[in-house]
Amino acid sequence: MYKMRLLALLLVTVTHTHANYPALQAVLSQNGLRKVSHWMTDWLQSKLSTIKLPDVRGDVDIKIGTIHYLLYDMSVQRCDLPEPSVAFSEGTGVALQVDGLSIAINGLWKTHFGLIHDSGWFSLAVYNVNLSAVLELDNNDGCLSILTPVCSADVGYVQANFHGGGSFFFQPFVEMFSSKITDKIREKICPAFKKGIEDVDGHLAAMSDAINMDPYVFMNISLTDSPIVMDSALRLNITGEFYSKNFSSEPPFSPSPFQLPWQNKYMLSVGMSEFCINSASYAYLKSGVLKILIKDDMIPKTFPLHLNTSQFGFLIPQLPKLYPNLTMQTLLYASETPLFSFTETAANFHLLSAAKFTAIKSDAEVPLFRLDMDCSFSAKAYIDKQLLKGFLVMKNLTVTLGSSDIGDFSITPIKNTLTLALTKVVLPKVNAQLKDGLPLPFVKGFILRNSVMNIENGFVTIGTDIDLLH
Ligand SMILES: *[C@@H]1O[C@H](CO)[C@@H](O)[C@H](O)[C@H]1NC(C)=O
Ligand SMILES: *[C@@H]1O[C@H](CO)[C@@H](O)[C@H](O)[C@H]1NC(C)=O
Ligand SMILES: *[C@@H]1O[C@H](CO)[C@@H](O)[C@H](O)[C@H]1NC(C)=O
Ligand SMILES: *[C@@H]1O[C@H](CO)[C@@H](O)[C@H](O)[C@H]1NC(C)=O
Ligand SMILES: *[C@@H]1O[C@H](CO)[C@@H](O)[C@H](O)[C@H]1NC(C)=O
Ligand SMILES: *[C@@H]1O[C@H](CO)[C@@H](O)[C@H](O)[C@H]1NC(C)=O
Ligand SMILES: *[C@@H]1O[C@H](CO)[C@@H](O)[C@H](O)[C@H]1NC(C)=O
Repeated sequence: MYKMRLLALLLVTVTHTHANYPALQAVLSQNGLRKVSHWMTDWLQSKLSTIKLPDVRGDVDIKIGTIHYLLYDMSVQRCDLPEPSVAFSEGTGVALQVDGLSIAINGLWKTHFGLIHDSGWFSLAVYNVNLSAVLELDNNDGCLSILTPVCSADVGYVQANFHGGGSFFFQPFVEMFSSKITDKIREKICPAFKKGIEDVDGHLAAMSDAINMDPYVFMNISLTDSPIVMDSALRLNITGEFYSKNFSSEPPFSPSPFQLPWQNKYMLSVGMSEFCINSASYAYLKSGVLKILIKDDMIPKTFPLHLNTSQFGFLIPQLPKLYPNLTMQTLLYASETPLFSFTETAANFHLLSAAKFTAIKSDAEVPLFRLDMDCSFSAKAYIDKQLLKGFLVMKNLTVTLGSSDIGDFSITPIKNTLTLALTKVVLPKVNAQLKDGLPLPFVKGFILRNSVMNIENGFVTIGTDIDLLH
């Protein structure tokens, strides 16, 4: 009893730790960070442009009495934000420094001095605002979160011009309250910045933990570990497991650990383990999409063999005798999860599939036989000019008769025909397509540039530059 429980506990722990290995790893380099910060500059600029400034009121003592003033309805007209300098701060996150920000503000003024009331408008320019902040990156329940634990701002100088009313009278006192305005602005900058970062954080959380890939599958992108910030890069470990949308179960295999090699010259490096790709395979199988019904009219007219009981006579002698001159069709499907494996330089692909043949007799299907096929391929793959290119070879094909409604027959002629069809018709077509290249899968809103793919033991890596899609 005790042993059973210990065993159960061990099993739970083992499956648990296995499920925790990331199937996807990403590294953002210093170059990548610079790119991201470049994108953020525009956004930050628009955030700062929406700062609401509170009214400023005060008094100026002019010996013969006191002028009470009120500056109100202040709004930011313009904000010039120089490119921030960003750097990874080992162990924490990102250090950000903006020097020389300038802000133009318009507003209204009102004064009263005894019974004399006066009013007008003013424009204000704030120069040499410096902002420095530390952004902390964390794993919040699987989502990447960004906090601003440190932020400080300095304001250089303020230039104000008052118009309207007896403002010539007012101007000399500007000096006296420009330091007040400077303080107000300094107080507002960090909260505005923090608010902006909170918005980004909210967006990241709202992205939830899944990417919708197509109508059938999604990928779980929750973080498996805390982000690691090194002095030159940010490393993220991501679940990277695919699930079927209508059949959510764990595949009968688990991820293995791997260490993503990366280079500073790429903005982003991504590593995908065999598990990532095989879980996609499993999810598609469970979604019921890995099957195709092949009808005779889908076979090129010039192809020597057609789905026709008479023509199949030379492969299966009894077939035309039992069912003369009937059209046939075949349902081709993966009978188990197609599995990929990566060895240094090559991708291998193992497919267990079946083909169910039926004859069409007055619109009804007559079951004939099922072939089970065990097929393995090996592929070279690389990225060239942003296209996935490669070359596929068939390594092995085993065909067995799974079941038959028309009695036993020799499988050899069928196997030979199938091998011929695959090597002489199907593979050359596939390889012609692979030579021209297939478009890379992309993430919405982004494009990849200068991408390079490498196949390693147990995983593939892509090193790439990234850009926004305009
Ligand atoms: C802002 O930074 C610049 C350049 O580092 C420096 O010259 C300037 O004095 C700083 N401004 C303030 C208000 O600290
Ligand atoms: C993704 O995986 C994490 C950790 O395994 C899990 O907590 C989360 O519920 C998963 N999300 C989805 C959408 O499957
Ligand atoms: C990511 O996971 C791998 C194991 O697959 C581990 O070696 C590495 O330290 C992890 N990195 C982070 C950032 O947690
Ligand atoms: C999932 O949906 C597909 C069609 O989109 C269907 O063929 C398949 O049988 C469904 N699987 C389950 C388990 O419901
Ligand atoms: C075979 O069937 C086709 C279509 O049903 C028909 O046109 C043709 O005459 C038939 N041939 C023989 C030899 O019965
Ligand atoms: C089957 O093939 C034979 C010979 O090519 C052809 O004469 C016949 O019409 C075909 N039958 C059907 C049903 O297509
Ligand atoms: C082909 O597959 C069969 C059955 O899976 C296996 O016995 C045979 O060794 C394989 N041949 C090669 C060349 O891999």
